[in-house]
Amino acid sequence: MNQNIRPYKKQLPKIADTAYIDPAAVVIGDVVIGADSSVWPMVAIRGDANSIRIGERTNIQDGSVLHVTHAGPLSPDGFALHIGSDVTVGHKVVLHACTVEDLCLVGMGSVVLDGAVVSSGCILGAGSVVSPGKVLEGGYLYLGAPARKIRELNQKEIDFLSYSAKHYVSLKNDYIHCDE
Ligand SMILES: CC(C)(COP(=O)(O)OP(=O)(O)OC[C@H]1O[C@@H](n2cnc3c(N)ncnc32)[C@H](O)[C@@H]1OP(=O)(O)O)[C@@H](O)C(=O)NCCC(=O)NCCS
Repeated sequence: MNQNIRPYKKQLPKIADTAYIDPAAVVIGDVVIGADSSVWPMVAIRGDANSIRIGERTNIQDGSVLHVTHAGPLSPDGFALHIGSDVTVGHKVVLHACTVEDLCLVGMGSVVLDGAVVSSGCILGAGSVVSPGKVLEGGYLYLGAPARKIRELNQKEIDFLSYSAKHYVSLKNDYIHCDE
C-alpha cells in the first residue's frame, strides 16, 4: 500500500486517476479528490472524524492542513470539508470543516474555520482568518483577521482565478511525466 494515501476505519481515499498527490503529502480516510486536482508536498488531508470532498482542477499547495469536525455535543452533525473545482489553495493554509466553492483563491497562510463558506469567485488575501460560520459573498476580495469585505474583484483578478487553476493542472502534468 502507498503509505502516504491510507485508510481510516477501512475507508480509503478515492483519488481520480488524473489527480496528482505528491509523495510527501498525506491523505487519510474519507476523502474524494477529483480529476486533474493536485496536492503538493507537506499537505495533510485528514478525513477521519468527517468527510472531505475536493472537486476538479483544484490545487492544494505546500504545507496546507485540511481537517474536519466530528459529530458531538457541541455540533450534532459535525462539519465536513467541501472544496469545489478550480480552487487555488495557497501555501500553508488551514481549511477546517468549512466550504470553499468553485473558482476561489485562498491566500497563503489563511485560516478558514468551521462552518464558514467562501462563496464562488472570491479571493481571500494572504494571512486572512475567516471566523466560524461566516459566509463570504462571491466575487469579492476579503482581507484580514477577521476577514472583512474590501471590494469587488476586477476583471484581471477574475481571469486570474481560472488561469491559476489551469496553470496548476499543467504543473502537475509535468510532475506526473517528469520521469519519462
Ligand atoms: C490582497 C492582494 C490580492 C492584493 O490586493 P490589492 O488590492 O492589489 O492590494 P494592494 O497591494 O494595492 O494593497 C492595498 C492595501 O492592502 C494591504 N494588503 C495587501 N495585501 C494584504 C493582505 N494579504 N492582508 C492585509 N493587508 C493587505 C496593503 O498593505 C495596502 O495597504 P495600505 O493601503 O494601508 O498601504 C494580495 O496582497 C494578496 O494577499 N494576494 C494573495 C496571493 C496568494 O496568497 N496567492 C496564493 C497562491 S501562491
